[in-house]
Amino acid sequence: MKCGGILKLTERLLTIADLCKDSKAVIDVGCDHAKLPIYLIENNIVERAIATDIRQGPVDNARKNVVANKLEDKIRINLCNGLADFGPDDGDTIIIAGMGAEEIISIIENAPWTKSNDIKLILQPMTLEYKLREFLYKNGYEVSNEEIAIEGPKIYTIIRASWTGAQLEEENFNLFSNKLYNGRNRRTYIEKLIKRYTRMQEGHKISASGEVEELNEILAMLNDTLDKMTKE
Ligand SMILES: C[S@@+](CC[C@H](N)C(=O)[O-])C[C@H]1O[C@@H](n2cnc3c(N)ncnc32)[C@H](O)[C@@H]1O
Repeated sequence: MKCGGILKLTERLLTIADLCKDSKAVIDVGCDHAKLPIYLIENNIVERAIATDIRQGPVDNARKNVVANKLEDKIRINLCNGLADFGPDDGDTIIIAGMGAEEIISIIENAPWTKSNDIKLILQPMTLEYKLREFLYKNGYEVSNEEIAIEGPKIYTIIRASWTGAQLEEENFNLFSNKLYNGRNRRTYIEKLIKRYTRMQEGHKISASGEVEELNEILAMLNDTLDKMTKE
């Protein structure tokens, strides 16, 4: 794997790159410096990429890095809001990483062409991942797997989903993805979630009683899972 210079990716971006192994063409929305598309091309993981961002500064940085790596023929740089300039022929995989869940949801909502079985979404929300999960499930996008990346005190959730049209009625989309995440960091993941939800429960953010009940449920389920793991 090439990973020197600007291509030195963090654990979070490496985990996302790993999920692109069966992709051919990716659209990296909010590409910033375009590190991820450059890495994906340099390591022959995908054939072509679009690196797009809503701000001129990141677009300029992305272009500079793509040119420095002589990848202009494989990586197209673009300036637009979300997926506004694109359609299904532009890529089989859409990466939206390093943004809040609400921004990610809005980008997907504004691109109804992502409702296709042929398109894979790789999403890494910085906040409120349960909201993103809920949105996906309620709108027919099925989560095929979840990964986590741990960087020091930070824990990142990476969700891979595709539209199937199936709508989950009464699933645990508000909870953490108990069934899906079974990787080596599972215990750490659950412990961190318990800390996070306990903080939320104690914090001022909670005003509606429904939310408190929901958090109680989440915590009970997480603690139960951890107990079971300890006994195994
Ligand atoms: C924190 S950076 C994340 C960069 C990279 N994706 C990563 O995960 O390391 C967020 C980037 O998303 C861009 N961004 C935010 N909202 C966007 C939108 N609606 N459409 C495109 N880019 C957006 C920002 O300009 C910024 O460059």
